[in-house]
Amino acid sequence: MTTPKLPSSEITPEAWYLDRRRFLAAAGIAGVGIIGGAKLASAASQGTQQAAPQARGTPYGLQPNDSPTPWADVTGYNNFYEFGTGKDDPAKNAVNFQPRPWTVKVDGLCDNPGDYALEDFLKPSRVEDRIYRMRCVEAWSMVIPWRGIPLKDVIDRARPRASAKFVEFTTLLDPRRMPGQRFPVLEWPYKAGLRLDEARHPLTLLATGVYGRDLPNQNGAPLRLVVPWKYGFKGIKSIVRIRFTETMPTSSWMQAASNEYGFYANVNPDVDHPRWSQASERRIGEFRRRPTLMFKGYADQVASLYSGLDLRRNY
Ligand code: MTE
Repeated sequence: MTTPKLPSSEITPEAWYLDRRRFLAAAGIAGVGIIGGAKLASAASQGTQQAAPQARGTPYGLQPNDSPTPWADVTGYNNFYEFGTGKDDPAKNAVNFQPRPWTVKVDGLCDNPGDYALEDFLKPSRVEDRIYRMRCVEAWSMVIPWRGIPLKDVIDRARPRASAKFVEFTTLLDPRRMPGQRFPVLEWPYKAGLRLDEARHPLTLLATGVYGRDLPNQNGAPLRLVVPWKYGFKGIKSIVRIRFTETMPTSSWMQAASNEYGFYANVNPDVDHPRWSQASERRIGEFRRRPTLMFKGYADQVASLYSGLDLRRNY
């Protein structure tokens, strides 16, 4: 992953879609800054508010100056190398991708493995809306209203054995449908892994939607991982397989450059990427940089998962 160039859409902020009052009420935030207000006014004058989806859901770990990133940026500024390495490639190149029908295989060290049609895979769980801060290892960030199911539900149904310590996730491998896989940019299919306790953490979500709609293809339709305290590259898209293992899985990014992208990928502002600092971030749609928070602001919920672990070595 290289440092991104600024597309013009970020220099002039996109129309502001948020039902701001509802968001602020849900977030328990009163009287926050004027930035959202200015955007709201400009959107109203452009008459774009009606057409746009609304951010709904429970905001987790948000700060008083966090507001959901506009839909246009969430769905137009993406990393999904199966559809190209440019930030605007996935939106263009994934247009014709058909995410249905879709099968998810659950296997490895568990007592209830299975091949599930997507609908059956999702059925036992309650779909939830959650607004999470997201941060890419490239030092840009967004606030995204996801829709999805807790990964824990899927894990519980699979009944992992005592020997299972990790979960490996795999993206679809199909170079005809994912043209970026014709190029050796990464080891295909894309893989990511979590420790089993991280996977079971209540914040970890299998997302099926964003802004209350089904996931757009460029965001990982029909099913992708969201782990809000980790760098975005853990959020593997278009998942076809979930496998329980005893040993730590090797992700595509560890394979590509293990000195740059570790297994944990926990956001830690004190551990620089070898080629750039991780101490601050630029929120898409803003000029100024913000300080990056430990575990992306989710330390209260997740720090205990890592007690006793050297977070400089286990980056
Ligand atoms: N999943 C797959 N299969 N392929 C990818 O290239 N990129 C990752 C992650 N998941 C990627 C992927 C990276 S680097 C990031 S930052 C996030 O997806 C971006 O998610 P978003 O485009 O929905 O914001």
